[in-house]
Amino acid sequence: MSSERQPFVRLVDPVKDADPLFDVCKKTVGPALRTGTPNLIAPYIWNVAYIRLCPEFCFSVDDGEGNAVGYVICAPNTPEFVERWREEYIPILESLDPLLKKPEMHPPADWGKDLTLGVLQLLYNPEDMMHPACPKLVEEYPAHLHIDILPDFQRRGFGKKLMEALWEKLRKAGVPGVHLVMEGRNHDAERFYMAVGYSRFDEVVDEGKSGERGKDVNGNLWMVKKL
Ligand SMILES: CC(C)(COP(=O)(O)OP(=O)(O)OC[C@H]1O[C@@H](n2cnc3c(N)ncnc32)[C@H](O)[C@@H]1OP(=O)(O)O)[C@@H](O)C(=O)NCCC(=O)NCCS
Repeated sequence: MSSERQPFVRLVDPVKDADPLFDVCKKTVGPALRTGTPNLIAPYIWNVAYIRLCPEFCFSVDDGEGNAVGYVICAPNTPEFVERWREEYIPILESLDPLLKKPEMHPPADWGKDLTLGVLQLLYNPEDMMHPACPKLVEEYPAHLHIDILPDFQRRGFGKKLMEALWEKLRKAGVPGVHLVMEGRNHDAERFYMAVGYSRFDEVVDEGKSGERGKDVNGNLWMVKKL
């Protein structure tokens, strides 16, 4: 029998796993953000805040040797999370990295022209997570999540295991539903979410432009699951 340790899912250790999971986010973020300054800022939006503010709702894939190689991170209550982001996270951003200086917030960046400004504006505008144009999303599915796994550990069942661990935790906490927003072009991820039990948010949220339910004006998909 092989003596190699098997990977497994466990709770995130907010101290020991912080740097490895920052790295997982840098490597798995959407292709447009995978280089340069936007790549160094992206994890502060889609990783660090969750591990700092609600580590008890964050799970990682451990490679069997103690190294975190993937995660699902979750805010169980989005309105509360947005408030804590503004009150507890924004004030420390510049001390975490001088790159994270508050930008001019108006006018909104043209993402095609200035990605760095785009991600910085997002970092300093947590209210975006409330999807103000459609409050029903957060009302019905108050939790939201992000999930990423390094390529060597993908398609081995860990994404599903991370989700199951998170759902159990959320159910115990009495959370009625969870949502996530994903890039419409990420068809692999869409197939994964559908396979493990998510569905599109059942409303037209792009003023009818696409004619599709659960697709917003930026072409992102809103996926939801009742718990
Ligand atoms: C998306 C991701 C989290 C899925 O995790 P995973 O561990 O690879 O997925 P699993 O092995 O648990 O897959 C469970 C089921 O989902 C489906 N699935 C997963 N990946 C799929 C793919 N690329 N194509 C088609 N179906 C897929 C399959 O039905 C699979 O079951 P099977 O392997 O028995 O057929 C992972 O691949 C990943 O991190 N990708 C890169 C980053 C990313 O896109 N994150 C999501 C951003 S929104």
